[in-house]
Order: sequence, then C-alpha cells, then structure tokens
Amino acid sequence: MISKETVDEVLLRTDVESLIGGYVSLKRAGSNLKGLCPFHSEKTPSFTVYPADNSFYCFGCGVGGNTITFIRQIEHLDYPDAVEFLAKRAGITVIRDGENEYVRTGSISKERLLKMNVDAAKFFHAMLFGTHPKAKAALEYFTVTRGLSIATIKHFGLGYAPDSYDSMMKYMLSKGYTRDELVEGFFAVKTEKGTYFDNFRNRVMFPIIDVSGNVIAFGGRVMDDSKPKYRNTMDTPVFKKSRNLFALNFARTTGAESLILCEGYMDVIALHAAGFTNAVATLGTAITAEQARLMSRYTKKVIICYDADEAGQKAAQRALKMLGEVGLDVSVIRVPGAKDPDEYIRAYGKDGFARVITESKSKFEYNMDTILSKYNIEVPQERINALTELVNLISDVYSRAEQDVYIQAVAKKLNVEPQSLRADVDKLARKKAGAFRKNESEKTRREAAGYADRVNPDYARAPAIAGKEENVLGLLLLYPEHRKKVFAEGLVSESDFFTDFNRRVFEYVRVLYNDNEADSTDVNSYFTPEEVGRITKMKIRRMNLTDNSETVLLESIELLKDAVKKRETESVSTLDDLANLILKLQNNE
Ligand code: GTP
Ligand code: MN
Repeated sequence: MISKETVDEVLLRTDVESLIGGYVSLKRAGSNLKGLCPFHSEKTPSFTVYPADNSFYCFGCGVGGNTITFIRQIEHLDYPDAVEFLAKRAGITVIRDGENEYVRTGSISKERLLKMNVDAAKFFHAMLFGTHPKAKAALEYFTVTRGLSIATIKHFGLGYAPDSYDSMMKYMLSKGYTRDELVEGFFAVKTEKGTYFDNFRNRVMFPIIDVSGNVIAFGGRVMDDSKPKYRNTMDTPVFKKSRNLFALNFARTTGAESLILCEGYMDVIALHAAGFTNAVATLGTAITAEQARLMSRYTKKVIICYDADEAGQKAAQRALKMLGEVGLDVSVIRVPGAKDPDEYIRAYGKDGFARVITESKSKFEYNMDTILSKYNIEVPQERINALTELVNLISDVYSRAEQDVYIQAVAKKLNVEPQSLRADVDKLARKKAGAFRKNESEKTRREAAGYADRVNPDYARAPAIAGKEENVLGLLLLYPEHRKKVFAEGLVSESDFFTDFNRRVFEYVRVLYNDNEADSTDVNSYFTPEEVGRITKMKIRRMNLTDNSETVLLESIELLKDAVKKRETESVSTLDDLANLILKLQNNE
C-alpha cells in the first residue's frame, strides 16, 4: 500500500520538464515544451509537456498524464513501482513500519528543517546588528540605500549573511546541526572534494515566512551590482517556491479588500512600510496557478503592480490570465516615471501610490492601452491595425453586454462609429465560432466512427452527450473553484452522466473536492494509464481555450443537461443512429 503522503511528495519533488527531458529531446514552445512522442512514431512533434500543470499529452496518440503516468508507460511499471521509481530518483526514502509508511526526503525531517530555518533567521538578523566588520555596511544598505526604518527591518526579520565561508556553519554546528543537514536546508554547499562552505555570503537576507508563520526559505541579495543579484533557497521538503508568496503571512491578516501583487521583495517591503500592508510578491519566478489559487483563498480582488520594463509588462499579461482563471477580479497599475513600485514610493510617497491605485485598469483597459501604445493612431494604416487588434480582443469577450462597454470605449478613443465596430466584432465572432464548430463536429464525426474506443466504450452511442460531459469534466478537473461551486451548490450529480467512464471521472472529481487540497489524490491511483490519457485530454482541451470562467462552466452544464434530456425524450438521435449503425457493422451484426 502506498500512502497518499508518499505520492504527494513524489509528485511535488518530480519536475515534469527534467523527468521527461531525460527521455525525450524537448524544445520550448511558448510556455510549454514539445518533442517527438516516445510512445508512437511520428515525424513532427505532437508530444507536449505542460510545466505549469506538471503534465504531458500527445495529440497524436492520446497518451498523457502526470509524471507518475509517464514512468508507468515508459518504464512499463505498475503504479506502486512507478511511485517507488520516482521516489528513488527524487532521493525520497520510503520507510515502511508495519502498517505505517513514512516519507523522508534525504535524512532530515520537516520539523527539524523548520527549526533550522528559525535558527538561521535569528543568526542572520543578529548579524545585521552585530560587530562583524561589514555588518554596518549591510545595515546601511537597508537604512540609507533602500530607505528602510529599523522598525521595518525588524518587522520583516531582515538579516545579513556575513562575508565568510564558515561563520554561519560554525554557528549552526554549535546549535547541533550537521553539515549535511545544512546542505539539505540550502545553508551550506558541499564541494566535490567533500569540504563544505556557507551558501549565503555577504548578502542581505530576506526570510520567507508561510501563512502558518514558519520560516521556510531565504532570499539573499548582493549589496552592489554583482551577479547573481539574488540567491534564493531552492525547493526543500518545507519550501516550494511555486506555492508560496512573500509577505502573505502579513497581508492575509490586514482585512484589506484586495491584495497587491508585486515582483520583488523590496517592492513589498516598501509598500508595507508606506501602509499598503496588503502587498505580496512571487518568489523570483513567474506567477503559478498554485499561487493564484493561494491568493483566491484570501481575497476576491488582486491589483497587479509589476516593474515598468518590458519584462515586467509581459509578466503582468501572464498574471492577468492566471488570476482571472481562478475567478479573481484583477486590475493592473503602472507606476509612471519609476522602474518599480519601490522606486515610485520613494519618489512620490504614500499619497502618490494611493493615487496610482485609484487609476488601476481593468484587464480590458490594460490590454487596450497596450495595443494603443504600439501604434500611432494618427497614421491611417496604423489606426486600422490597432482597430483590427482591438476588434479581435473584444470578440473574445464572452458577455455581449461587456462587449458593448468595450465597444463604446474603443469607439470614443479612436473616433469611429460604435455600430460599425459592433458589426466587425460580430463578424469576427461568427467566424471564430464557425471554425470552432467545424473543428468540433469533425472531431465528433471521427469519434462517432468509434475506432474501438476502449477507454469510453459508450462514447460512440452518444457522442454529442459524451463530448459535453468531457467539456464539463475538463473545467472541473482544472479548477478547484469550479468544483467548489458545483458541489457546494449541487449543480451536477452522477445521474447527469450518460457514459460510464465519464461518470467515474466525475466521481473522481468529487474525491478531489472532498480532499480539499488543490490537486491532491493522484489520478493514477484511480485510473489506468490509458484512462489517465483521456482525462488529461479533457484538461488540455480546456486549457487551450481562452474563457474558462464560471459563466462558461454554467453554460456547459446547461448544455450537458439539455443533451441528456433531449436524448431521453427523443430516445435516439440521428447522429446516434448513425453511430449505432457503424458499431453494428463493426461487430458484424
Ligand atoms: P532591487 O529593486 O534591484 O533591489 O530588487 P527587487 O527585489 O525589486 O528585484 P527585481 O525586481 O530585480 O526581481 C524581482 C524578484 O526576482 C526578486 O525579488 C527575486 O525574488 C527574483 N530575482 C531577481 N534577480 C534574481 C537572481 O539573480 N536570481 C534569482 N534566483 N532570483 C532573482
Ligand atoms: Mn526592484
């Protein structure tokens, strides 16, 4: 029996990109990676790896799933052996003690690692106010160069890692930790010769604290222009950078109606010091779906405030999408005349920033501004290009009333007639819907021909319904907030499903909901690899569509219910007749 804890740990510590990269040569394609499928022969890559979802899917042969599914398939292992294979690879020791099973990553327990982090935080903080020759320069970096008060420094527990190869280690050894434990905690580095030295040296230190108040990691910044600017703790058994946010421990208790999302530790600290204690930051990576969900647990509204440079604005686009997908109300602010929020606050103060917040832009306004800033609308051709892009933007908006609002805004800005804009938007939306339907019916037709659908044998009997089931399931598999809505309000039940396989998937979705954790309960413990492939396909299909909002969820549910009802009344639809006929022919009846 493999415990859920083991599986969770294995999934957490196995990176899909490096795992699959060891078997398949992968090339970056946007935020995903592509390569030639190792499970069927092909000349153009249709095998795709999705780092954000820790999953893979092949559009050619339909294999797909998470890292455990991949190992099951490629190494021909059963489920427990695949988990063990990955556990070994990740350096996780599974200890079996009669009925019980423990997980140990390396040799250190989570408790001990957390205690080590607290001791380290105390050490760095003390060093900042200590007599070490360079301590004064470190304190001055914070107070003079970055303009922080002593109170702020203490509030965030900021510190200093001395310019030495072993002072931190000596202190920690005196506290009873071993050198190897310090390596696991990311405080020491072991050389090939077997010697050890301090990992953080001559850097100002930012402790990272989780929502339960545990010190889980550190960021260390140089005090000059040398590189790398930051050294941050890598993922350890108590820290995953994609699942935490800097200063959320403070921000979540402020009772503000929104969270402000920044890029850097210093931005957050400057904002808190100025009274905007609802600011948080990601930990040196682009925002992840897990972080978006984490935020949605504490607020309904997020204001994105990223750096003014191009990289910052690109990152803001991504954040808009990720945060919108978990149902958050999102807006964006730009800091005029400064490179980042920290610099802005220092130049224009608290009132300046408060003003900037009142001028925050909705997703649409922000995208509109981005488009307009690319073109000189006084030049006719450029004006037309801008209009084309804006019409495209509006045509992707789901609600017609919302479209109207944007049409008015654009009409005014570019001085064109709203009616002609409306006509263009409708034309493009029809074209897109037509292309989508054609694609779908093509797919349904192919699937109705039911080339031996082993995973869902009922599919061919009611392709129209099965497709709608998959649509709803895709949304529920991807978004915990959609699961919450559906189960808390009892919007869908097992009896709404026609095909047995999809009903089983729905039961699994219910398990996910009851588990209460974002993505726990491994799909591989319920389904065969082939089935996992189909489930992954449902997710991927939805991931590739732009709108996965609650409105779309509710409409998808309605469409499914209508289809099931229609079948009950008409008993057999024409399409199903056709499918049945094909099925009979195949069975030589
Ligand atoms: P300054 O304003 O220059 O002090 O820094 P900042 O904290 O505002 O950082 P910046 O906007 O340059 O980068 C945003 C975040 O990315 C930082 O807070 C770090 O978490 C992370 N980051 C920046 N540079 C590095 C780096 O060289 N290595 C790593 N691992 N992370 C970095
Ligand atoms: Mn900065």
